[in-house]
Amino acid sequence: MADKQAKLTVAGSEHELPVLQGSCGPDVVDIRKLYGKTGMFTYDPGYKATASCESALTYIDGEEGVLLHRGYPIGQLAENSSFMEVAYLLLNGELPKSDELDTFTHTITRHTMLHEQLIQFYRGFRRDAHPMAIMCGVVGALSAFYHDSTDISDPEHRKISSHRLIAKMPTIAAMAFKYSVGQPFLYPDNSLSYTANFLRMTFGVPAESYEVHPAVERALDRIFILHADHEQNASTSTVRLAGSSGANPFACIAAGIACLWGPAHGGANEAALNMLREIGTPDRIPHYIERAKDKNDPFRLMGFGHRVYKNYDPRAAVMQKTVREVFDALNVTDPVFEVALQLEEMALQDDYFAEKKLFPNVDFYSGVILSAIGFPTTMFTALFALARTVGWVAQWNEMISDPGQVIGRPRQLYVGPTERDYLPLDKR
Ligand code: ACO
Repeated sequence: MADKQAKLTVAGSEHELPVLQGSCGPDVVDIRKLYGKTGMFTYDPGYKATASCESALTYIDGEEGVLLHRGYPIGQLAENSSFMEVAYLLLNGELPKSDELDTFTHTITRHTMLHEQLIQFYRGFRRDAHPMAIMCGVVGALSAFYHDSTDISDPEHRKISSHRLIAKMPTIAAMAFKYSVGQPFLYPDNSLSYTANFLRMTFGVPAESYEVHPAVERALDRIFILHADHEQNASTSTVRLAGSSGANPFACIAAGIACLWGPAHGGANEAALNMLREIGTPDRIPHYIERAKDKNDPFRLMGFGHRVYKNYDPRAAVMQKTVREVFDALNVTDPVFEVALQLEEMALQDDYFAEKKLFPNVDFYSGVILSAIGFPTTMFTALFALARTVGWVAQWNEMISDPGQVIGRPRQLYVGPTERDYLPLDKR
């Protein structure tokens, strides 16, 4: 029996509903028995007020701009840890000890290669295919190659497939890039770190040795940390929903990649940089701010606003700092950074954005860094998918290991025609 109860009155009858409490965050009204008690469903398109699951991975306080992974603030993780540490933390619940991190990193490193036949898949795509289209296809196809790890009822299979997904994603993404520029694929070099290996597979060529810039490696590793997980966002919910039917993990992650691609979600980093380039110079910012405020104009400030954050996205603050570090390390600059800084400042002073609590999100500055490193805009969302794979597999594992897990199956408010008789063709 829950400590608190909520009361719902329907047509004069009062029903008590249990109120559940998490370790932090708002309480939730448990409506699982609502239909049985009242014959009614709840209506919440977009799940604006619906907790779809119980989770111990990530906590967000959108009002305060707080993001914790297993209790650790994202700023501390971004500053002090590595992507491999964060991956271990999300998967296992605790930060790894030194030997645990070594073993985990070694395991991931030993799964970085792709089955050689998968290379044929790439050749089937047009050269100008979007990397996310390739990622969806190739990741979904992994289930055809790794039959030995698709029994989701076996914890060992789940572990191996999770490691495979995390390990192979950089190889898959780098190959998508190489294919688009017509360069040969590079095999992984397991003497390098996870992130350095990805940089080399992306920017190296077989004819020369590739020196990984330590500042770039650190910056990209930090970007991966910032994207590792974000509780029940659209793509993670997609992975959970796909997984709830018992689908294999490779298919579930492919579903997550498809969802992430959209411009309202992971595609926003690409859209944000395109927007900043279109604005071009600070004097044009007011015009774009007016457009974003105009109800008759579909234009939105990309990289601004968030379903959960009604305060500064803590990841955007780390991103902004990382832009400067990368510029300094590479001794480069980009006029879009100045446009971004001034756009942020002007928007935050504007009543429209203040009233609607619209702040820069993680995507606002990430494109500026990725572009300085040398990634084309089409690769941005692929990098997001690479990093988010850690969160997806951790959430998927959490769901499958839960003995109370059931298939996700929302209900609806039907507004179509009521029952009517079929009309033969000559009577319509
Ligand atoms: N520019 C201008 N106005 C905006 C913006 C924006 N970027 N974002 C929201 N608004 C306005 C909406 O027009 C709406 O106004 P209204 O109440 O007068 O109708 C109000 O703010 C609320 O917006 P919703 O779309 O209802 O908020 P929701 O929580 O559904 O959407 C979303 C959040 C999709 C992120 C939205 O802010 C947006 O489209 N932002 C731009 C795309 C973006 O940056 N996406 C990345 C999200 S982070 C991530 O996925 C990693």
